[in-house]
Amino acid sequence: MGSLVVSLVFEALAVKEGGAAPTTSQRPCVQLEIPVSIDTTATKWLQLRVDSNIDVPNITERMIGKVTVKDPFKIDGQLCAPPKDKIVIRTRSANGQDNANRYWDVEVKPDEYSYLEAALARGYAVFTYDRLGTGGSDKPDAYDVVQTSVQVEVLRQLTSLARSGNLVGGSEGSRALNGIPLRLANYKPSKIVHVGHSLGSAITLGLIGSADDRNHDDEAPPLSDGVVSTGFLHTTPADLAGVNVAAWGLELAREHDPVRFGDRGSGYVVQSTKGHLQLRYLGEKGAFEEGLLDYAWAVLRQPASVSEFISVGTAFGRGAAGFKGPLQFVIGEKDYDFCAGDCRGAYDVDTIKENYYPGATALEVYLQPETGHALTLSKNATAGYDVAFDFLHRVGL
Ligand SMILES: *[C@@H]1O[C@H](CO)[C@@H](O)[C@H](O)[C@H]1NC(C)=O
Ligand SMILES: *[C@@H]1O[C@H](CO)[C@@H](O)[C@H](O)[C@H]1NC(C)=O
Repeated sequence: MGSLVVSLVFEALAVKEGGAAPTTSQRPCVQLEIPVSIDTTATKWLQLRVDSNIDVPNITERMIGKVTVKDPFKIDGQLCAPPKDKIVIRTRSANGQDNANRYWDVEVKPDEYSYLEAALARGYAVFTYDRLGTGGSDKPDAYDVVQTSVQVEVLRQLTSLARSGNLVGGSEGSRALNGIPLRLANYKPSKIVHVGHSLGSAITLGLIGSADDRNHDDEAPPLSDGVVSTGFLHTTPADLAGVNVAAWGLELAREHDPVRFGDRGSGYVVQSTKGHLQLRYLGEKGAFEEGLLDYAWAVLRQPASVSEFISVGTAFGRGAAGFKGPLQFVIGEKDYDFCAGDCRGAYDVDTIKENYYPGATALEVYLQPETGHALTLSKNATAGYDVAFDFLHRVGL
């Protein structure tokens, strides 16, 4: 059996910026720089430029036209496969100078927090990458280019490379880490499961929705064999209608921290205080080990483009009527962005299925108790991973 799981994360917790790779024991991982060639149509937004901290608060959501995005980009990623050959690959959002998306691979007490460790132990292989605009991936124009429709296209191409066994072969300058097993070089999963977090989930849901646009060839493999969407929920009565930007405490990234984020251009914004980071990601005192707020602040926090905020609804809003696979939503019971701190009663599974995924073969929502938005940083994180692994097991992935 072989499956590929692709995961992505939202902006602030995307990746580690620089620094040495941790002692990743003897993990069979390979670091990749993957070229993608984008040729797609994105949205032209009515968005005032954000060139200083004073500009940041006004993010609008008005479409004023279309724009063609036709560019080659480099995407930073990492492929890890478990020592034994039961092959399920998971893709997560990796990055950084060291190509590791630390949201999925928390270095503090990895036995308790690292999703990557847990997945490898379960026999899954994992591919993670940095979204366009984060970590070690290219950081193009924050207005016309770095938005969800383009991110969906990047994910589609990476998925296709993975499916054909060309993730490693198609990458440039793949750098060995701990001696890559040869089997990684031609790694070809038979199944692909996408695991997203927050914006990463929106992009993943956009990916399965994009299949509706294509002529269907029943012989062609599906874009995704299954989805675990974390840190994301279609709430009732209304979906996240817009981002409550004021609650995020955003500043222009390069003005906020010229040393760390000096390579971000106009329109890249970042959370500016630990208080905002705690409110949005970690929740109340007691829900997380306090050292993890410092870790999130110093290591995981990443800028996002203003157009990613504006365009997030376009990624998932129309659902994925043609998706015929299993789909699980796992969200912290106390998620702030989606549920204002309490997800109990904030959704209806039948409505989600009818409105968005009528063809899904299984659809579940799970609220991880006493947990905020950042599932991998919360106490009891591993037990939450087990819920998702058990779901995949039940549906044969
Ligand atoms: C925000 O920007 C829009 C145009 O994008 C403008 O119409 C509106 O007046 C601005 N609001 C504020 C408070 O500046
Ligand atoms: C830990 O998470 C598991 C899985 O969601 C749950 O069953 C259990 O009750 C949680 N424990 C606590 C103390 O919240």
